Amino acid sequence: MHKEAHEIVIVIDFGSQYSHLIARRIREQNVYSKIISYKVTPDEIRQLNPKGIILSGGPASVSVKDTPRCDEKILFMNIPILGICYGLQLGSQILGAKIKPSKNREYGRTNCTIKDHSLLLDSLDSNINVWMSHGDQVIELPDDFQSLAYTENCPYAAVRHKEKDFYGVQFHPEVTHTPSGNQILHNFLFKICHCSGDWSMSSYIDRAIKEIQEHVGKERVICGLSGGVDSTVTAALIYKAIGSKLACIFVDNGLLRSNESERVIEAFKKNFKVDLHFVDARDRFLNRLSGVSDPEQKRKIIGHEFIDVFKEESKKLADIKYLAQGTLYPDIIESISAHGGPTAKIKSHHNVGALPAELGFELVEPLKDLFKDEVRRIGSELGLPDDIIWRHPFPGPGLAIRIIGEVTEDRLKILRQADDIMIQEIKTAGLYKEIGQAFAVLLPVSSVGVMGDERTYENVIALRAVETLDFMTADWVRLPHDLLAKISNRIINEVIGVNRVVYDISSKPPSTIEWE
Ligand code: XMP
Repeated sequence: MHKEAHEIVIVIDFGSQYSHLIARRIREQNVYSKIISYKVTPDEIRQLNPKGIILSGGPASVSVKDTPRCDEKILFMNIPILGICYGLQLGSQILGAKIKPSKNREYGRTNCTIKDHSLLLDSLDSNINVWMSHGDQVIELPDDFQSLAYTENCPYAAVRHKEKDFYGVQFHPEVTHTPSGNQILHNFLFKICHCSGDWSMSSYIDRAIKEIQEHVGKERVICGLSGGVDSTVTAALIYKAIGSKLACIFVDNGLLRSNESERVIEAFKKNFKVDLHFVDARDRFLNRLSGVSDPEQKRKIIGHEFIDVFKEESKKLADIKYLAQGTLYPDIIESISAHGGPTAKIKSHHNVGALPAELGFELVEPLKDLFKDEVRRIGSELGLPDDIIWRHPFPGPGLAIRIIGEVTEDRLKILRQADDIMIQEIKTAGLYKEIGQAFAVLLPVSSVGVMGDERTYENVIALRAVETLDFMTADWVRLPHDLLAKISNRIINEVIGVNRVVYDISSKPPSTIEWE
């Protein structure tokens, strides 16, 4: 681990589902934050030289053996620490407190009374709503601790050590259900850790450009453009750093949405004079997919075909040493579970479209420290159009996994039209940015209908719109009924071959966002 160029507050992760959120909340206050496994050593921490440490929550219980515990010396490094939930229990236990499973477990919104506002709870009302989610709690504090707040069932909802900069909260300040959570984190960052707030996107851009220039020197870089925000911002940043030494490849696999390739090329050419290689591989992909209806097989075929096309195309370009990829910070942290174990299997398919090492390029990943909202802010600072910056994520296998069953030209045409209508109407209603992902799916069933005096037997379109923080869990969006009615009417009237539209009201888990 190397020292960062800016101030950093680290989040030591004990397996909390909220660790990402803690890091994001900190960065929103212009302080850089990074998530680190609880196995981190004091030496590694010293190298990072953090202004503060947050001990995350976690599903384990400190009263049980073999739970994740950090090196106890971390508590004695004279670095301010805030323990959240499990982090409070673990930290205060190391410093002498007693923890036990509580008689009344607390889950959800709870009223909390503040007794002492010093530093951590500064500027808050005396009664605040907080979000609790715990089974264990502190039941006895040693004399060198002070209780700052309590709830009906939790006498030590917030605590501080009298001599050390150790603070703890039993509730979760990082979630929106704790409305004063941001103020609490602000107090920790600026009043206790004395951060200056030097993490801004414009300084990030300047630094990233310098780093790219130093990293690649005079060599050429290749970048696969997909039209999504990650690859576009990656290319834009690298273009700023090395100009014409960047070559981009855009592959039209025939599985893109309506006018997608035209829009990407236009947006890119307008904004940058980049060396853009457009590959029309539509026939190639569709031929390979002919007769295939198994989702995993479709994914594999598309993944392999993409690699082959990319390989052939990149061979035409001389002297390329580096490959730029739009890897984001969550792509990296998702692959480290709290116990250092492997990534959950459900994510493995997301590597479809990633390019293998056998291509022989070295990687440049200028976004690998960033969350999606930060990538969008960078895109905006670099002058990319809103249409690209706010585009919902689109899977590598494209519409092939939204056509249930075999992919054919005719079915692609139907789905493209229906999807386009849905997105247009959501944009017109001003809801596009609030939705994580919205799309249409073409089902492999026909249903009976009547149009005019005639009986029809045609396709069914399912609409899906989800809200999500990280795409690992998601809920369906309560779209206004009038909007759903408008989308449905337009699809049935305008898309030939569709006589029924349904709305998907499943959350993830147990469903997934995509249907295949
Ligand atoms: P699921 O369906 O697993 O999707 O809930 C979660 C997110 O991942 C996207 N997704 C993919 N992205 N290749 C990709 O690049 C894939 O094979 C793939 N499958 C799903 C999906 O669109 C959603 O954003």
